[in-house]
Amino acid sequence: MASNPFNFIFFLSFLSLVVEHHGSVELKQYPLVVSTWPFIEAVRAAWRAVDAGSSAVDSVVEGCSTCEELRCDGTVGPGGSPDENGETTIDALVMDGVTMEVGAVAAMRYVKDGIKAARLVMQHTEHTLLVGEKASEFAISMGLPGPTNLSSSESIEKWTEWKKSSCQPNFRKNVLPVNNCGPYRPNNFLDLSDETCSFIDQSQIARLPHVGLHSHDTISMAVIDRTGRIAVGTSTNGATFKIPGRVGDGPIAGSSAYAIDEVGACCATGDGDIMMRFLPCYQVVESMRLGMEPKHAAKDAISRITKKFPNFVGAVVAVNKTGEHAGACHGWTFRYSVRSPAMKDVEVFTVLP
Ligand SMILES: *[C@@H]1O[C@H](CO)[C@@H](O)[C@H](O)[C@H]1NC(C)=O
Ligand SMILES: *[C@@H]1O[C@H](CO)[C@@H](O)[C@H](O)[C@H]1NC(C)=O
Repeated sequence: MASNPFNFIFFLSFLSLVVEHHGSVELKQYPLVVSTWPFIEAVRAAWRAVDAGSSAVDSVVEGCSTCEELRCDGTVGPGGSPDENGETTIDALVMDGVTMEVGAVAAMRYVKDGIKAARLVMQHTEHTLLVGEKASEFAISMGLPGPTNLSSSESIEKWTEWKKSSCQPNFRKNVLPVNNCGPYRPNNFLDLSDETCSFIDQSQIARLPHVGLHSHDTISMAVIDRTGRIAVGTSTNGATFKIPGRVGDGPIAGSSAYAIDEVGACCATGDGDIMMRFLPCYQVVESMRLGMEPKHAAKDAISRITKKFPNFVGAVVAVNKTGEHAGACHGWTFRYSVRSPAMKDVEVFTVLP
């Protein structure tokens, strides 16, 4: 072999190819992007970023902000889900599964870039969550565009129709007046001096479904980058006709998303007012940490909620460190999107309740 140095070099590079090939067997699942719903363009954007070598955090931000720009389903970004006053506000979160740093904004007004504002909170403050107009002031002071009118002609039209139907249905309960717009006051059932209110059958009152069964309310995304780091992010404009000030599960770590780089990640979507009481994504990741398979971890987290709330509508998707993913849902058919090195383009998986 030494008699022909070219052969030797050829042999060496052949060897390194073999080694590389062998080494890539373990890493073959990376990078990986997983997202709630068929938000294909968002997943493609995150994939382009992570495939080109971006960090998990930056790729998640890239993916979620693409959804904000495209106003995915009208439920992410500006111009959707007007509250009782007709205003659109933004909830978003980003979490680094390596450092356990989290940044989030909730009920943020006048700034459309939710996930970028969340990243600013994570990277440039010691805090985790900023809310309302103070979150907007912070985001703008750190360089994001605003103040911006977050309403669209569609959101204003939707809200105008709702006002015309006496603000029905809505998220109020045990209040008076029952079939009209506010101002509202508590309806104290024990107050017998007010006979007229004591016998209102609450079951007859129209209830607003917390999630649109035909709209997909949140983008929640997980990315594992080339080096195996994991990050998650979410962005949503919340529930339509919510009471101003309402914060959903979107910016709550452990509820809409969670990641621990040694274990895996979880993304959730659905009735945030219920989910944030159970922290399903915290539970999913914790269950996987204790050895549960993604599929069982996802099912277990959903069943814990449905035991107390049989009419609950929601879903989770679990991803473990090896890139194994599985979803579970209740009350609707859930779909989630995946892009891995083994796929030519984004693939959509369907999960039946
Ligand atoms: C914001 O935009 C909506 C929809 O285009 C419009 O109806 C509304 O008047 C605007 N609000 C302000 C304060 O400019
Ligand atoms: C991920 O899940 C798969 C399927 O349940 C399992 O075979 C694999 O060992 C898991 N990986 C880790 C790191 O737990």
